[in-house]
Amino acid sequence: MNKETVVGVLGAGTMGSGIAQVAATYGHEVKLFDVSTSALDKARTGHLRIFKRLVEKGRMEAGEAEACGSRISYVSELDALAPCGFVIEAIVENLKIKQDIFQKLEALTGPTSFLASNTSSLSIASIGAACEHSERVLGVHFFNPAPLMPLVEIIPGIATSDEAVTTVRNLIDAWGKKTVLAKDTPGFIVNRVARPFYGEAIRQLEEGVADAATIDWAMREIGGFRMGPFQLMDFIGNDINLKVTETVFQAFFYDPRYRPSFTQQRLVEAGRLGRKSGQGYYNYSEDATTPAPVEDPQLGEAIFSRILVMLINEAVDAVFLNIASAEDVDLAMTKGVNYPKGLLSWANERGLDKVLSQLQELQEEYGEDRYRPSPLLKRMVRQNKRFFE
Ligand SMILES: NC(=O)c1ccc[n+]([C@@H]2O[C@H](COP(=O)([O-])OP(=O)(O)OC[C@H]3O[C@@H](n4cnc5c(N)ncnc54)[C@H](O)[C@@H]3O)[C@@H](O)[C@H]2O)c1
Repeated sequence: MNKETVVGVLGAGTMGSGIAQVAATYGHEVKLFDVSTSALDKARTGHLRIFKRLVEKGRMEAGEAEACGSRISYVSELDALAPCGFVIEAIVENLKIKQDIFQKLEALTGPTSFLASNTSSLSIASIGAACEHSERVLGVHFFNPAPLMPLVEIIPGIATSDEAVTTVRNLIDAWGKKTVLAKDTPGFIVNRVARPFYGEAIRQLEEGVADAATIDWAMREIGGFRMGPFQLMDFIGNDINLKVTETVFQAFFYDPRYRPSFTQQRLVEAGRLGRKSGQGYYNYSEDATTPAPVEDPQLGEAIFSRILVMLINEAVDAVFLNIASAEDVDLAMTKGVNYPKGLLSWANERGLDKVLSQLQELQEEYGEDRYRPSPLLKRMVRQNKRFFE
């Protein structure tokens, strides 16, 4: 595939419109399809606004911006995707609807075209199963906002051919993205490894270790994260975050490590969805006062290190289970969700033995499987090894 390849994007929502912008900026002719004409109109207006702003900021020549805009056509007939050599689907997260559209796509596009899904939580195997030629179906998981976030997870399904993986990966690399290869398992890399960022923060809130403002302060000021977990959950939406947590928990056959929390469920039930509803963990109304954190460095370090060792354990276990390479796990967390350091490099820095002993203390204290250290972490400590050596 190259610039001449016509790219189809299904779904003109948050992700689809961003992906269409990326492809058009690289030089492809793009067919952006949606069943909703208002979504198409919104995407078109959005693209025009973004390209105009890029010109104003001096990041793009006016002629180039115009050319990019004119390369995208907004279509409401699936048939318009017939000339596409590569299609990325970013429609509603529903297996039946996705399978249905993949079947139609397969019949519509040529036998050498590649078909990708941007799904966050469905398996690529299940989407590919709807196709006769599932060897050309794979996952390409962008992060929001797609034009700005550099990471794309590439996920081969059971039946995906090596050719499909290599060809699609090369193209997305050429678009200027950082690609990582992930196994077709729940949450792929980022949405799996990041669970304790939320889960262990909520757990500490529930235990009364500290309030949300203090936990957020510890993660920002001591951990160096851009946003604290409660700020971030309010930003993402507690309904969306709960849904991801529930999906991952079920998909892992109810592994207690991923168990959702009552705290989050109650917030969602009460309509406290976060910024979008005006209240979540924090109150966003104009007259609300921002709660002050308890800026105690010792307490902060305890909060941060408990979340960090759980994150590291998740990252190590992903390597142990061959979900991705150590390099890709670190790249995914720094480029997909802006972590200040790769978790495995962080583990090296803090000392794998210290990380292991903190996890063992937690497991001993709570007696919960949630805190079980990854066998790889134990093995590496026993063998006195570090990552990337
Ligand atoms: N939002 C994120 O942060 C994010 C990040 C990565 C991946 N994803 C995944 O990307 C996909 C899209 O998510 P989104 O947030 O852009 O959703 P969205 O709701 O913003 O957009 C989805 C679009 O798909 C359209 N649509 C629905 N059914 C359709 C059909 N049958 N045919 C054509 N269009 C149809 C809708 O009209 C809507 O415009 C989902 O699979 C989601 O899991 C989302």
